[in-house]
Amino acid sequence: MNFLKKGTVVWLLLTALGKISIAQVVIPVITSHNAMLLQADKGGDLKTIYFGKKLADQAEYKKITEVYKTSADYTGVLNSAYTSSGSRNLAEPAISVTHADGNKSLDLKYISHKIENIGNDVSLVSILLKDPAYPVEVTLYYKLYYKEDVIEQWSVIRHHEKGNIVLDKYASANLYLKAGSYWLRQYHGDWAKEMQPEETELTHGIKTLDSKLGTRANLFEPSMFMVSLNKPATEDEGSVLYGSLEWSGNFKIDLEVDPQDNLRIIAGINNYASPYALKPGEDFTTPAFLYTFSDKGKGDVSRKLHTWARNYKIPDGKGSRYTLLNNWESTYFDFDESKLSGLLKDTKKLGVDLFLLDDGWFGNKYPRNGDNAGLGDWQENKKKLPNGLVSLVKEAQKEGVKFGIWVEPEMVNPKSDLYLKHPDWVIKQPKRPEYYFRNQLVLDLANPAVQNFVYGIIDSLFIKNPGLAYIKWDCNAVIYNAHSNYLGKNQSQFYVDYVKGLYKVLDRIRIKYPTVPMMLCSGGGGRVDYGALKYFTEYWPSDNTDPLERIFMQWEYSYFYPAIASANHVTDWGKQPLKFRVDAAMMGRLGFDIVINKLSASDLLFCQNAVKTYNLVKPIIWQGDQYRLADPGKNNVASIMYVDSAKASAVVFNYLVNYRYGVESKPILFKGLDPKKHYRVTEVGLYPGTKSALAGQLIYSGDFLMTIGFDPSVNSNRTSVVLELNELAGG
Ligand code: DGJ
Repeated sequence: MNFLKKGTVVWLLLTALGKISIAQVVIPVITSHNAMLLQADKGGDLKTIYFGKKLADQAEYKKITEVYKTSADYTGVLNSAYTSSGSRNLAEPAISVTHADGNKSLDLKYISHKIENIGNDVSLVSILLKDPAYPVEVTLYYKLYYKEDVIEQWSVIRHHEKGNIVLDKYASANLYLKAGSYWLRQYHGDWAKEMQPEETELTHGIKTLDSKLGTRANLFEPSMFMVSLNKPATEDEGSVLYGSLEWSGNFKIDLEVDPQDNLRIIAGINNYASPYALKPGEDFTTPAFLYTFSDKGKGDVSRKLHTWARNYKIPDGKGSRYTLLNNWESTYFDFDESKLSGLLKDTKKLGVDLFLLDDGWFGNKYPRNGDNAGLGDWQENKKKLPNGLVSLVKEAQKEGVKFGIWVEPEMVNPKSDLYLKHPDWVIKQPKRPEYYFRNQLVLDLANPAVQNFVYGIIDSLFIKNPGLAYIKWDCNAVIYNAHSNYLGKNQSQFYVDYVKGLYKVLDRIRIKYPTVPMMLCSGGGGRVDYGALKYFTEYWPSDNTDPLERIFMQWEYSYFYPAIASANHVTDWGKQPLKFRVDAAMMGRLGFDIVINKLSASDLLFCQNAVKTYNLVKPIIWQGDQYRLADPGKNNVASIMYVDSAKASAVVFNYLVNYRYGVESKPILFKGLDPKKHYRVTEVGLYPGTKSALAGQLIYSGDFLMTIGFDPSVNSNRTSVVLELNELAGG
C-alpha cells in the first residue's frame, strides 16, 4: 500500500539521516493529512514527538526535536505515549497497576513495533512495551483509516506474574499536543436537554470529562469533545481534534495542560470503583479511543468522520433507512389491537415505510399500562393484543408496511414476574434499600445467564415474528447501588463487565440478524457513542423533539455523527408550525409521532407530500457531504446543506431561530458546489396552497452561490425553507 510505503520512508529518513542515532526508533503513525511521530529513545521510553498536520517534506521531520525541546527531566514523562505510574513518572498516568507482590511501580519500555496493512485504506500499527522489572506488557494499537484521517487507538494489557495483578487504571490512549492555547468544546445535558455545548480555554492542570452512571453514560456528559489549537476553530479554518471513547459505560477523559504548556489527553474507561484483577496470561483489551484531526476547521473534520462512520462503523451506513410512524406520543400506554390496526392504516396513508409499536405491549400479571410495572415480562399483553404480535405483523404486511417494535431488555420493574423469579439477576445492594430510576432497576449483564435472557428476548421476537423489520432498543435507568450478585467478591469488575456483557449480547444479535435496523435509544440520547453504534443503524438524539431545540441539538450531534444515523420524529412538541417540524426532522432519518387521523386535510396532504419530497432527497442527506452554513447559536437563521458526491445536487435547510420583530434572512454562502457548474435552485416542501417567495428562473453558477450567496427568504411568515439545487444539463 502506498501509505505504508510512505510511513516506512519517514522511518528510514529519520533513522538514517542526521542527528537521531540508530538506537532510537521513530514510529510513524501517518494518515492522509496528519502525522503522529512516536519515538523510542535510547532508554526505551516511548514518546510523542509530534502530532498534527503532515509536513510536505518528510525529511524535515528530523528537525522537529531541535525545535520542540522538552527539558531532559521531563522527556519520556510528560510526552510519554502511554504514561505508566509509580516509577520516574509523576504525571497523570495512562496505566497504573498493583503487582502480585503488592508493588505499585510500572515502567514500560519499547520492545518492537509492526505496521501492517489490514485492508484497503486501513493499516494497524502495534507497539509492544514491557516492564524490565516485572513481567507486564502492553501493546498499543493504532488503527489508521488513511483517507478519512481517523485513528482508533486501544491497548492490550497482559502479564505473566505468579498471581493476579490489579489494573488500577487502564486508559485506551494518551495523546500529546503542542500549541499556544487549547480550546475545549464539551457537552453537558440531562433528559430532554442533550448536547448543550460549552467552549472554554483550557488552563493549566487537569480538566476531566467523565461518567459514573453505568448505563446511560452520556446522560449528563458524553465522551465526545473537540479541542481547537491556538484559537477556536471555525467551520472552515483552524486546527481541531475530535475525540470520543467507543464505550457505552463509565469513561474518563483527562485533558491536562502540563507545566511545559503542552496538552496531554488521557482517555479510557473510568477507573472509578473499578480496579480490575487480571489473571496471568489473560488479555485485557481496552475500548478504542477514536480521534481525528484537521487543520481546515470543523467542517472538514466532521465530513471525514461522517464518511468513516458510514464506511466502517455504523451497520448499513451506506444503505437505506425506513421512514416510520411511531405511536409513543400519540397513544402512550393506552392502545389495543383495534387502535393499532388504525395506526397501521395511517402508516400506509402517510406514505412512510414502517409502523413502530412503542412501550406498553407486554406484561400480563403486571401489565405494562404505565412505567411502573411489567418490564422484564416480554409476553404480549393478552387484553391489549389478544391475537399477539403475529397477527399485527401479518396485518402490517397486508397493508404493505413494515412492522417494528420497542424493547427495553436490560431493565426490570420490581412489579414483574421476572423480578420475583430472579431477584439474583437484579443490580442492587444486598444490605441497602432499593432505589429506582423511572420505577425500574437494571439487570446484571455481567452474569452470562442474564446475557442469555436478554439475547433470548430479541431472538424469540424474531423467531415468532419473522416479518419483524425494526427494533427500538431503549435503556431508561442509570445504575444505582452498583452490585452484582454474580460477581461475588469481584465487585470492582462490575462496571466493565456490564458493558462487555451488553456487547456480547449485541454481538450475538448481529451475528444472527446482521441487517435488521435497530435504533439506539436511552430515554432520549443517554447512550450515543461509537461503541454502541457498531451495532445500531441509528440513534435517538433526544425525547425533546421541539423542532427549535432540535435544530440546536442536531447541529451539535452533526459534528460527530452523520445524518443517516439521526432518528428525527415530527411530534407535537414546540410551538412551530407543522412545516417547520417536518423540515427539522428531515435532516436525518424522518419519522412521525403524531395522531394522523386528527390532522386537517391540508396538514395530511402536506405530510404526504413531504414524505414524497423526502424520498427524493434522502440519498443526498444520508450519503452526501454536510456543510453547516449558518450556526443557530450565532445567527437569526440557521442553515445546513447536504451535497451529493458528484456535486450535481444539493439540499439546503433554512430555519428561523430568532423570533424578534422584523428578523429575516440575508444571503447565505453555499459550500461544496462545483464553481463551474450551473444549478437550478427550487424551493421544495411547500405547504399546500402557498407559493414560494422565490420567483423566477433561479439559475446560478456554483461560483456565484458560494461567493455572493443566496437568500432563502426566511422570515416570520416563512419560518423554514427547504431548497433543492440541481445541476443544469450540460453544466
Ligand atoms: C423513552 C424513549 O426515549 C421514548 O421515545 C419512549 O420510547 C419511552 N422511553 C417509552 O417508555
